Amino acid sequence: MAHERYSLQLYDHLTEGVDLTGKDVLEVGSGRGGGAVFIHQTMNPRQMVGVDIASEAVDFCNRTHTQDGLSYKVGDAEKLPFEDDTMDVVLNLESSHCYPSMDAFLGEVKRVLRPGGLFLYADHRPRSHENAFRKKLQNSGMRIAREADITPNVIRAMEMDQERKLALIHERVPKSMANSIREFAATDDSTLRHEFVSGKRWYFSLTMENAAA
Ligand SMILES: C[S@@+](CC[C@H](N)C(=O)[O-])C[C@H]1O[C@@H](n2cnc3c(N)ncnc32)[C@H](O)[C@@H]1O
Repeated sequence: MAHERYSLQLYDHLTEGVDLTGKDVLEVGSGRGGGAVFIHQTMNPRQMVGVDIASEAVDFCNRTHTQDGLSYKVGDAEKLPFEDDTMDVVLNLESSHCYPSMDAFLGEVKRVLRPGGLFLYADHRPRSHENAFRKKLQNSGMRIAREADITPNVIRAMEMDQERKLALIHERVPKSMANSIREFAATDDSTLRHEFVSGKRWYFSLTMENAAA
């Protein structure tokens, strides 16, 4: 897992000080599933479920990460395939910027969380959207319990992982596609990195609490 160190550090940061032992934990936008494996292996939840809209990613996870108490499901962040009040913790990491409706997503997180449950959340947004974004958080019915601007940490992680990414792109990506893949991988010359460095975009982490009934 050494090459996944920087993404896993983000999972570690989000769950810092949260005891997941015996808890029902859901990750929305679980991708290729490594974060859910990390939580499942190191934090002893009762069950760890990953949900992603991409069925290929979910199939990959169910073929690759086969451990009791760990599962993956196809599902949409705006229509989560779970009953009300069934999760103690919902995680969401670098996925929500893809969702058409933040209000619908936040409503779903609140719906599936038990009273007193936690929403552990990290993503990035343009600074120019900050006020509107904060209003959505305020209107979600959940309370912000912890908040951090982790942009400098993310920039540093990008720098430290840059050489590995460039070597992989050089080795595996056809020249005609290299520019777009560098953008996707957020290497030093990418728009995303420039936006973080110039302050146009910020990377936040949040802990939100679903008020006890
Ligand atoms: C950048 S990946 C992040 C994966 C993982 N959280 C991580 O940090 O490694 C974003 C993921 O969000 C998923 N996603 C995008 N829109 C979604 C939606 N509406 N509902 C559920 N998942 C979605 C994508 O398929 C993708 O796997």
